[in-house]
Amino acid sequence: MIQTTTALGLTEDEVHDVMETAVRAPSLHNTQPWAFRISDAEIELHADRTRQLPVADPSGRELRIACGAALFNLRLALLGLGIKPLVSILPDPDRPDLIAVVRRGGARRATPEQRRLLEAVPRRRTNRRPFSDAEVPATARYALRRAALDEGTWLHLVTDPAQRIELGDLARRAHGVQIADPAFTAELDHWTGHGEPRPDGVPATAGGPLPQPNSTWVMRDFTRGTGRQQTAFEAEPLIAILTVHSDGQREEIRAGEALQRVLLTATTHGLAVSFLSQLVEVPEVREAMRRLVGGLRPPQVVLRLGHGWPVPLTPRRPFEDLVRTDAQEDQEDR
Ligand SMILES: Cc1cc2nc3c(=O)[nH]c(=O)nc-3n(C[C@H](O)[C@H](O)[C@H](O)COP(=O)(O)O)c2cc1C
Repeated sequence: MIQTTTALGLTEDEVHDVMETAVRAPSLHNTQPWAFRISDAEIELHADRTRQLPVADPSGRELRIACGAALFNLRLALLGLGIKPLVSILPDPDRPDLIAVVRRGGARRATPEQRRLLEAVPRRRTNRRPFSDAEVPATARYALRRAALDEGTWLHLVTDPAQRIELGDLARRAHGVQIADPAFTAELDHWTGHGEPRPDGVPATAGGPLPQPNSTWVMRDFTRGTGRQQTAFEAEPLIAILTVHSDGQREEIRAGEALQRVLLTATTHGLAVSFLSQLVEVPEVREAMRRLVGGLRPPQVVLRLGHGWPVPLTPRRPFEDLVRTDAQEDQEDR
């Protein structure tokens, strides 16, 4: 087990469990672009810039979304241990990669909903395979929108047929732009579809099958180079766009927290989810999508939701690589 000090009055085992929950968060291509510094009084969550994707994510927007998702898990894990987390987001303007500092804010028992979300953390995964044609029921749709709202964001469900057609066109356009860029495909190939054991990236086993050429919603998530047969995907998945109040790093972190709450809520409703990030990664397409959904609110994440079948768990980096403790730093200073 990793050498941890205790933090926030927790035992070493509890700190270990909290970290394990935090890093189960999703991240673009499973880069896991986070690092933690643990001391008696606080847990610092840092962005690990060495894991930012320069082509797909030049501004670090998706890196901050991933860190926000890890922060949501961290909050949940502390609530699960009866601790109210006191969170300062971007507390130091001179250290922009310090995403958040979490302190102990007294005793607080997790609500039944928070318990359900916490229990869903190890079951949640990105599902790039075809879904069934069963509709997402109204109760689940309501819960997903509520989850986004509770984290200060908005989940736009794309139900208008004309809007869906236009969004499909935009998704294809964005995919075309990205796939024509050799730097983008090199980055994608570096991080996804590999067969060797690795603690990061998206293994081939987690990729989807090759979609049919006329497919709208599933485009870059298949495992390339395997010569697999083309597969039909569901005709009408639920498509949802997570938007925030305004541009800026703070709102991107908030988007990550909300994303994780939405994903865990989906898991508790038995729903499968995958991402359509080409729509937010290509700037002109992202702008067109913002206008399409009729608002000033910047879109941060686009999701495909439905009923799927089980998919394997993806790996995570060992704690030794991502957790620093006071004790370690004292030792190095000596
Ligand atoms: C901001 C963000 C963007 C993502 N974009 C995509 C995407 O475009 N395609 C995809 O298949 N997965 C995407 N993912 C999912 C990650 O690949 C996935 O979270 C990671 O591989 C870890 O697997 P898990 O979600 O099953 O834990 C994205 C995740 C995040 C946080």
